[in-house]
Amino acid sequence: MGPCVAGAAQPGHERSRGTIVQITVTVNGVTSSHDVEPRTLLVHYIREHLGLTGTNIGCDTSSCGACTVHVDGRSVKSCTMLAVQADGAEIKTIEGLASEDGTLHPMQQAFMENHGLQCGYCTPGMVMAAVSLLEEQPNPSERDVRLGLEGNLCRCTGYHNIVQAVLACAAK
Ligand code: FES
Ligand code: FES
Repeated sequence: MGPCVAGAAQPGHERSRGTIVQITVTVNGVTSSHDVEPRTLLVHYIREHLGLTGTNIGCDTSSCGACTVHVDGRSVKSCTMLAVQADGAEIKTIEGLASEDGTLHPMQQAFMENHGLQCGYCTPGMVMAAVSLLEEQPNPSERDVRLGLEGNLCRCTGYHNIVQAVLACAAK
């Protein structure tokens, strides 16, 4: 067997298994622990370990915002954070925004009423960022909303109704 054959163990060259770290996080009110590799991104942890696929990966440049979640109450692009950095944190994803009885969050309702709901890729991140925006700035101007959402991209450039939805939610 030659040296390039997959799986061929070479004396003195044991394969590295890498370090595994256990993390405990509370996601949408449920606390659980998982073993992860230190390199695991939070977005991969959310999607692959927890099966919460509303949080999307829309780029590989930390620029689209499709992966936006709330970590300890703050809006975070979960592709810019390692899962191990979230150890002990409270995380909310789009799946945790509506009430348990299914009542939509006011922002989800406003997106629906103002035709701000677009594709499944950008919308969850937009909604999560919009909720954070109003928590920090309850009475934003249109310019404030546009600036507040500038980290979230819609590749179809359909921003008008999204901005109207956020303003309508703020006015409620
Ligand atoms: S996937 Fe995180 S910003 Fe695009
Ligand atoms: S990227 Fe989602 S509607 Fe444009």
